[in-house]
Amino acid sequence: MSFDINKIRSDFPILKKKINGKQLIYFDNAATSQTPSCVIDSISDYYKNYNSNIHRGVHSLSEQATESYEDSREKIRAHFNAKYKEEIIFTSGTTHSINIVSNGFVKLIGKGDEVIVSGLEHHSNIVPWQMMCEKNNAKLNVIPINDDGELDLDELKKIVSKKTKIVFLNHVSNALGIINPIEEIIKLSHENGAYVLIDGAQSAAHFKIDLQHLDVDFFTASAHKLCGPTGIGFLYGKKELLNKIDPLMGGGEMISDVTFEKTSYADLPQKFEAGTPNISGVIAFGVAIDYLNKIGFNNIEKYELELLDYATTKLKKIDGLKIYGDVKNKTSVISFNIIGIHSYDIGSILDKYGVAVRTGQHCAQPIMDYFNIPGTVRVSLSFLNTFDEIDILCEALLKAKSMLS
Ligand code: ALA
Repeated sequence: MSFDINKIRSDFPILKKKINGKQLIYFDNAATSQTPSCVIDSISDYYKNYNSNIHRGVHSLSEQATESYEDSREKIRAHFNAKYKEEIIFTSGTTHSINIVSNGFVKLIGKGDEVIVSGLEHHSNIVPWQMMCEKNNAKLNVIPINDDGELDLDELKKIVSKKTKIVFLNHVSNALGIINPIEEIIKLSHENGAYVLIDGAQSAAHFKIDLQHLDVDFFTASAHKLCGPTGIGFLYGKKELLNKIDPLMGGGEMISDVTFEKTSYADLPQKFEAGTPNISGVIAFGVAIDYLNKIGFNNIEKYELELLDYATTKLKKIDGLKIYGDVKNKTSVISFNIIGIHSYDIGSILDKYGVAVRTGQHCAQPIMDYFNIPGTVRVSLSFLNTFDEIDILCEALLKAKSMLS
């Protein structure tokens, strides 16, 4: 399909919205992506036409809901090229997925064992592991970053060892947009006998990911960063590993046999999907993946990199503006400060011009601490944005600067 930006934008009703009397310019795509009509309609279609519980009923509505839910699992499997459908577990999102794995590792890690996290993480890929390490007396090592915000792989080589049980890091930093060299990290970790979890929350929307090619052990992403609804995501795990770890939640659907003496768990994927899931969310997630594939990830990646290049060049012309993580290998995220002005103040003024950005620490305090700053202004571009919008951002920034300096 050819990339027709006007046609694509017309699929997103929210883009017609005015904010403070100005046309909305949405540059907070890394926090949550906007939702096309086909995804919104699929949720309403579910509630209007076949709302019912899955895997439980013999009646027609339940069968239709179950079929659509399981079709969606197949769409996610195929899109990310997992080997087996049951390796895709639906969760409430990336944070939930990471907690399933960190909780599962409580049984697999002992005193004196070590785990490794990257210095570029979001809190959701730090805190669950700290909780696990505390329970197990395990040691949490950190891959440090350099002044460009990139991971120092020479340091990783020094800290990874046969004691390392799992390495967990994001594919793309939410705060800086840097793409981490995960293929090299996965190889190095496997050579030392360690498993790897990749948090794909910030990568999956920008380019195609092939799980079998990566040979990653666990991977997770959230639908709401992929034009899908909030409250739904997935955990991928290699079958043999998902069979090894315990579920985080107990309840209906995740069992094969329950007595007051003992419960045995259901097979994958149900073992990790206790209770009634977010059925409409799962179905809408599948619709969102279809939508993105119709546009084509090659088109998305190419267009977003053109936007990134244009925005970076323009922003650098603003006196006193400093970009963090200004490296070659990154997605369309620009994190910056204007010297002497707090990021919140800039964000508030941009909002007056209808421009939505995220400000502050971006749930990644260790990165901000490294750069010794309280936060940044983060402009996260998506394939919905235009070059004209970037021009308006730069004009608004100049106005904000003259008001606040
Ligand atoms: N993790 C999301 C962000 O980076 C919320 O904004």
